[in-house]
Amino acid sequence: MTAHPAAPVDTVAALPLDDKVRLLTGATPWRLHPLPAAGLRPLVFSDGPAGVRGTGEIPGWTTAALPSPTALAATWDEDALRRAGRILAAEARAAGVDVLLAPLVNLQRTPVAGRHFEYFSEDPLLTARLSAALVTSLQSGGVAACAKHFVANDSETDRTSYTARVDERTLREVYLAPFEYVVREAGVWTVMSAYSGIDDGVESSPAGSHHRLLTGVLKDEWGFDGIVVSDWAATTTAVAPALGGLDLAMPGPDSPWSRDLADAVRSGAVPETVVDDKVRRLLRLADRVGALGAPGEQGAAQGRFTAYALGSRTADPAPRAAGPARAAGYADGLRELAASAMVVLRRPAAGALPVAAPADVRRIALIGPNAVSAFAQGGGSAFVEPPYVVGFDEGLRAAFPDARLTLEQGADAGRRLPAVDPAVLCGAPLVELLDGTGAVLGTLPLASWEGTVRDFGPYAASAETLRLSAELRLTEPGEHLVEVGVVGRHRVEVDGTLVSSSDEEADGTASVLNSSTNLPDGTAHAVQVGDVPRTARVVAELQRLRSAEFGDMFRGVLRHGPPAPGRERLLSAALDAARDADLVVVVVGTTEEVESEGWDRTSLALPGDQDALVEAVLSVAPDAVVVVNAGAPVQLPWLRRASTVLWSWFPGQEAGHALADVLTGRTEPAGRLPWTLPDADPLVPSVLPDAGGVLAYTEGLHPGYRGWLRSGREPAAPFGHGLGWTDWAYGGASWEHAEDGTVTVAVDVTNSGARHGSEVVQVYLSAPSGGPERPARWLAGFARVSAGTGATVRAEVRLARRAFEVWNPATAGWEVPPGAYTAHVGRSVADVRRTLTVPVGGR
Ligand code: BGC
Repeated sequence: MTAHPAAPVDTVAALPLDDKVRLLTGATPWRLHPLPAAGLRPLVFSDGPAGVRGTGEIPGWTTAALPSPTALAATWDEDALRRAGRILAAEARAAGVDVLLAPLVNLQRTPVAGRHFEYFSEDPLLTARLSAALVTSLQSGGVAACAKHFVANDSETDRTSYTARVDERTLREVYLAPFEYVVREAGVWTVMSAYSGIDDGVESSPAGSHHRLLTGVLKDEWGFDGIVVSDWAATTTAVAPALGGLDLAMPGPDSPWSRDLADAVRSGAVPETVVDDKVRRLLRLADRVGALGAPGEQGAAQGRFTAYALGSRTADPAPRAAGPARAAGYADGLRELAASAMVVLRRPAAGALPVAAPADVRRIALIGPNAVSAFAQGGGSAFVEPPYVVGFDEGLRAAFPDARLTLEQGADAGRRLPAVDPAVLCGAPLVELLDGTGAVLGTLPLASWEGTVRDFGPYAASAETLRLSAELRLTEPGEHLVEVGVVGRHRVEVDGTLVSSSDEEADGTASVLNSSTNLPDGTAHAVQVGDVPRTARVVAELQRLRSAEFGDMFRGVLRHGPPAPGRERLLSAALDAARDADLVVVVVGTTEEVESEGWDRTSLALPGDQDALVEAVLSVAPDAVVVVNAGAPVQLPWLRRASTVLWSWFPGQEAGHALADVLTGRTEPAGRLPWTLPDADPLVPSVLPDAGGVLAYTEGLHPGYRGWLRSGREPAAPFGHGLGWTDWAYGGASWEHAEDGTVTVAVDVTNSGARHGSEVVQVYLSAPSGGPERPARWLAGFARVSAGTGATVRAEVRLARRAFEVWNPATAGWEVPPGAYTAHVGRSVADVRRTLTVPVGGR
């Protein structure tokens, strides 16, 4: 480990124990304590990775919403990640944030993972290289990156309690590989340990916050000299994480460390030198982000990165809140990132697209639930409040000013009923607070059914149950659905009929951690309305959810579904518009009910009636452009029927402009899939832990495309696929060895299409026979090149020595199995244009 020269580091041992321990848990959920004696101002943390969520301390904070990490990964372009990093760093500085909790370097082990859209890829090398570019760019902007969640925390089901069982080789070669890369190659300053535990066959730990992988591998072997921060509220004991590699227990102000760590040191259970090491690491981080001044100068913003306008950290809060003004500066960059990340899954052979003459387009039909409401970013801790989101209709209207655009929903994509429209309520719901015996303590009017007990003033201490009564005035004839989403013990009545009840108490911390943004489920009750309007009375009792970490709370949501406008009506309006238009764009996708942190998906199908909508539109408008607005894979049963299919990801706040730029050809949709698009019979590694809480990674070295290749089946679209708007011809390929064990593959590619464009040359290896088990093919290197029509460029793809290596658990080291490797050079893992034999000696 390299010692850092910051002066206060050397005085750490002399600090009083209580002062040191105070530094190791937040003062608030997002802010650490200052230490004036060391010139340390409070360090500030914020969530990422698709924007700077902020601390909640700046009223009205809005911030740039970037394309989802999956979108950024689809660029296969480290330079794009550096551009994204510069925007994130600038926004972090504007928010006064020192540590951005991004990137997620977990892998898309399974397509159903709830945070799939937050991860980069199912491939370790692609994840590693793109993460490192983002980390470097953030940190050279003076903002610490945080590689999370260490390690094998690749799904959400029971995420706070499962133990991932992954054999040592798989861990090293697949799941630890991106962490190793961002530590060694990008020098990441912070790492977040996972909620989930890890069992690598050598040691089993029920939590990611203590394991020899943190101490022996991350810190000792890789030389990580930053801090390991816990995931939020993941630390449940003091001693094991203190000894096991954790440096900072978040959030604050209350944690097992703030309560018990000093005593654990006094009792001898934790040596004080262990605490000193954590404090040194913290001060080193503070120095790196410019949070250290001279001793006695609390709040100083001096440091190595003063060149990066740290002034904004101490600036007046007003300009910080000026999201719209700052956003104007990022608009072009975000638009370009979102557009260039889009993936062309299918297009007609002789390009009808992009639209050659936008001015000639007279009538546009823009159809689909996600056309009406773009899903710009996924849910969970990644969610940010952007200053604006350019809707798909707004973007197309701006790009085709002379066309008449008809916007039609076409189908329903909802999984739950919508939250009740306040206009339907007769007055504000009334809330009675009940104590443990069921006696009424008092009554309050309440605007929202979700809140912390702090909202209950004098009753906060003793309220155990919240009883809400509301009256809905139902005017539209037909069947109305009414439900209350609940967590744990509850009782719900509609018009005196018991709709659902449970005596089972839920735990508040678990409820938030497992589903922070997952709205509680409920049971719908049908209320018939005839010609005369009527009211429906809802009474719901909800339990107090106890949580030391997040504060006690109540969670409930009242939902109301008015009589459906009728599927037929939605669909026929859409088909009328499609028949009538010369450009038909159908936008289907997922919703905030589907893709979020907090839960895994149970189905890969598009929600609601969207598949039927696409089929119906294609039958009247076969040339319709189908746009998939999703962060993670969904099944597209109609894929081969559509002539043009674009994957738009979660495009962030410039959604509409980005799509318009792609359709008009202003920007090439140059994305390549960073994962495999499954077909009707998907390969889905399980996310369900067994009865003992063990989640076994039985697919071993073969997640994603490696599993598809092994199964011998073809997915709907292979890893690396993306057609862009032009065509490419591959010329001769060659390779050469360098002294350091790297191999460079060179290939000439010619833009044989009609437009300027760019190509991602991908090189996959397969192993010589007779060696240890290897994937059928694995990505070993890639390079993006651009060329005008007819031009030829040489792509040089460097294959690092590590691309050939395997981990040998017996010797606890890396080695290269010798023999003749095959390098597959091409446009995707399946579209191979050249193969080379690369003999490699044992090295
Ligand atoms: C998530 C982390 C996030 C943290 C703080 C946790 O639930 O797993 O990724 O950084 O919350 O919001």
